[in-house]
Amino acid sequence: MSSLKIGTFEEYQQAYEHSVNQPEDFWAGIADNFIWKKKWDNVLSWNFKDPDVKWFEGAKLNITENCLDRHLETLGDKPAIIWEPNDPNEKSRTLTYKELHREVCQFALVLKNNGAKKGDRICIYMPMLPELAIAVLACARIGAIHSVVFGGFSAQSIADRVNDAQCNIVITADGGFRGPKDLPLKPVIDEALTQCSSVDKVIVFKRSSTSVNMTKGRDIWWQDEIEKLNNNAECPAEEMDAEDMLFILYTSGSTGKPKGVVHTCGGYMVYTGYTFANVFQYNQGDVYFCTADIGWITGHSYIVYGPLSQGATVVLFEGVPTYPNAGRFWDIVQKHKVNILYTAPTAIRSLMSSGKEIPAKYDLSSLKVLGSVGEPINEEAWHWFDDNIGHNKAPIADTWWQTETGGIMIAPIAGVTKTKPGFATLPLPGVQPILVDENGKEITGNGVSGNLCIKFPWPGILRTTYGDHERCRQAYFATYKDLYFTGDGCLRDDDGYYRITGRVDDVLNVSGHRIGTAEVENAINLTQGVVESAIVGYPHDIKGQGIYAFVIAPDAKGDDSTCNAILASVTKVIGPIAKPDKIQFVSGLPKTRSGKIMRRILRKIAEGDTSNLGDTSTLLDPAVVDEIKNGAL
Ligand code: PRX
Repeated sequence: MSSLKIGTFEEYQQAYEHSVNQPEDFWAGIADNFIWKKKWDNVLSWNFKDPDVKWFEGAKLNITENCLDRHLETLGDKPAIIWEPNDPNEKSRTLTYKELHREVCQFALVLKNNGAKKGDRICIYMPMLPELAIAVLACARIGAIHSVVFGGFSAQSIADRVNDAQCNIVITADGGFRGPKDLPLKPVIDEALTQCSSVDKVIVFKRSSTSVNMTKGRDIWWQDEIEKLNNNAECPAEEMDAEDMLFILYTSGSTGKPKGVVHTCGGYMVYTGYTFANVFQYNQGDVYFCTADIGWITGHSYIVYGPLSQGATVVLFEGVPTYPNAGRFWDIVQKHKVNILYTAPTAIRSLMSSGKEIPAKYDLSSLKVLGSVGEPINEEAWHWFDDNIGHNKAPIADTWWQTETGGIMIAPIAGVTKTKPGFATLPLPGVQPILVDENGKEITGNGVSGNLCIKFPWPGILRTTYGDHERCRQAYFATYKDLYFTGDGCLRDDDGYYRITGRVDDVLNVSGHRIGTAEVENAINLTQGVVESAIVGYPHDIKGQGIYAFVIAPDAKGDDSTCNAILASVTKVIGPIAKPDKIQFVSGLPKTRSGKIMRRILRKIAEGDTSNLGDTSTLLDPAVVDEIKNGAL
């Protein structure tokens, strides 16, 4: 059995070589660090054409036994989750591994008592409470497939996701608290479910004690159901095949509605545990704080599964970085003596704008490792984080990965890999990146840029998009033959270090959230009076990218009420995170003769770079460009 953890750069290099030369042997060694009800017959079989990727075929396991049961003897009384509420005056709550195990088993029984069984899809729409992690793990315990929907999404988004996966149960809360706002959840679910016939049970956790409607026969209270168990907490873990689905998580692409990215039990467990232990160099006793929401992949992989499989102590925070003030993160670090902090560039930039005097008021000396994820981190933010938070002694792991990759792919191993501001540095052992040009031809050597692809499978790779395998093939495996295409542009510098430069497709990254242009345009086009629209991203100081909408609405030029109606429509169809920052009314859009919108031109105008718009002669109506340019916001 090879150990999970790499401790020196030399070991990193050896592990990397091993992972390329003998991938199956390498991954079998890593997988040996987990508990299996039955070991695999075959480590890997794959092709990227169909695609068809299987890891640890024939193995049997339950991920919750790895995250909970196996720690009970040695780490049973160790905190697994430290919950920090939105309001600093409310008491924080700690669940030891024993307590978490018990609560997961109990809620798993509640699910069973309400008809849930292996293979069912269960939608979870909850605030950042320990119960969100408990609900996720309880699904995994009984072999139900969870589909977590971020608490900021609208009723329409929930309905689309519930219908796509045909969920039969929804788990939610009455309401939640995020910053100064009350978050209504149950009313949003009620609205969503008017469109969903597959759901027959809604389990509601009482958090905000706001009054909500409970539909008889369908809606039940979490707490009442637990009481009914009379303290029974025996729930053996369902035996799962390594390739059984563990969860679905919806994410935006460049076309159509969000896709349900599917991850499976065995490979995802191995990959998240391995990457967590290595990148953050977690040592027993460390307190780890990941500021993401469990509604996104970062929360799935690095609040729930990765850290818990490694017996870590995780801080789970209900609120936002700026409430009640911009010192909230630092207050949490000081209070819980956080050793490892994993956050997003957008949070760093927003806290940076409040001044370095704020973090200076707190004792941050416990911090040993910092992490960043979700979007490119600009050098200014990198240095601010390094100087004012890590005090130049906590290495920054800039981690590049995606919902589809399941876990971190390119990142420094803290304290092992030399860092460089703005660079995700080097691929982890097991990850084989390749840069290609537009035609899929490999760009070799250093000091080059291209489209980032991965040429060999890793255990955390998505297996399909739920209910539509062809869409998975089209989106990730059809652009370049025999390669997984990430959608990102990338630079490999003279040292062979990787810097992700951003999406090369029509996907925006707004405050670290992936937003598909087509989705936002569809939402805008539903507004009365709107004929057509095109959205592009533009550089935004805090959000990384802002959303710039060009809208044709002939009767409503510059009209505030149309703007408000557009914002309301986007909020209703997707959620507030996708609201455009700028709306420019135009009389036409730059289109090619075949009717394709030339986004390149719109992007330049939105960026304020109109000096060189390139060749516009192939446009159907070149004059429209001048009009748009002159009216730019
Ligand atoms: O463009 C890349 C960007 O976020 C995209 C993935 O988004 P999502 O699936 O929502 O997952 C976010 C959390 C893993 C990528 O295609 N991205 C993510 N991390 C980085 C990044 N861009 C630059 N640097 C990163 N460290």
